[in-house]
Amino acid sequence: MASSSATLLGKRKSTALAPHVAPRKPRILLAACGCVAAKKFAILCNCFLKWADVKVVLTKASQRFVDIAGIPQFVAMYTDGYEWLSWKRLGDPVLHIELANWAEIMVIAPLSADTLSKIVRGSSGNLLTSIVRAWDYSKPMFVATAMNTLMWRHPLTERHCISIDDLGINLIPPPAGELDDPDFISNTVRLSYDKRMQKQQGVV
Ligand SMILES: Cc1cc2nc3c(=O)[nH]c(=O)nc-3n(C[C@H](O)[C@H](O)[C@H](O)COP(=O)(O)O)c2cc1C
Repeated sequence: MASSSATLLGKRKSTALAPHVAPRKPRILLAACGCVAAKKFAILCNCFLKWADVKVVLTKASQRFVDIAGIPQFVAMYTDGYEWLSWKRLGDPVLHIELANWAEIMVIAPLSADTLSKIVRGSSGNLLTSIVRAWDYSKPMFVATAMNTLMWRHPLTERHCISIDDLGINLIPPPAGELDDPDFISNTVRLSYDKRMQKQQGVV
């Protein structure tokens, strides 16, 4: 009797003393291409920051559009030149591999027609395409294309979208060639992440 109440007490105690561990934020690599819609990128970044740990990758062309000042200073931001800052000799970390390993989710928004075609043919000529080429597709990747209607309706776009779907990349298609609402993109990714977590924890 004594031992069973001690066991019960023991159980109660261990539950009561269990440290509260705040759930860790998911690590998201957020990238922008050179599209007019990249004007909304800073807003998009701030939407993701409400629930995720974010690092940013910008293509050379995207820097013409992105409002860098609108992205909080604590957010790490990488462009092509950074590849060579961290690598000097054999054994040094390779940035595109480090970033591909760091991220649990990758989001490219906006994705240009140019980078879309590069992903499909496996090109890895810049930081962004190198990350995509090194990506482990057991982890989710989302892309939100943004291009004008002529480009969007071009037959190659459809073929490229089918190819990225085959790769397992989730396409968030644009409403009439524009980039989707930043909140919508962030919520789409979050919903998918939450479902994945619930599945892993056996909730659903
Ligand atoms: C003013 C301007 C606006 C552009 N807007 C788009 C666009 O909305 N979507 C797109 O796919 N390409 C657009 N482009 C073309 C891309 O910037 C170009 O293809 C570039 O190579 C994309 O490079 P990136 O994918 O490495 O960022 C635009 C070009 C200019 C000059």
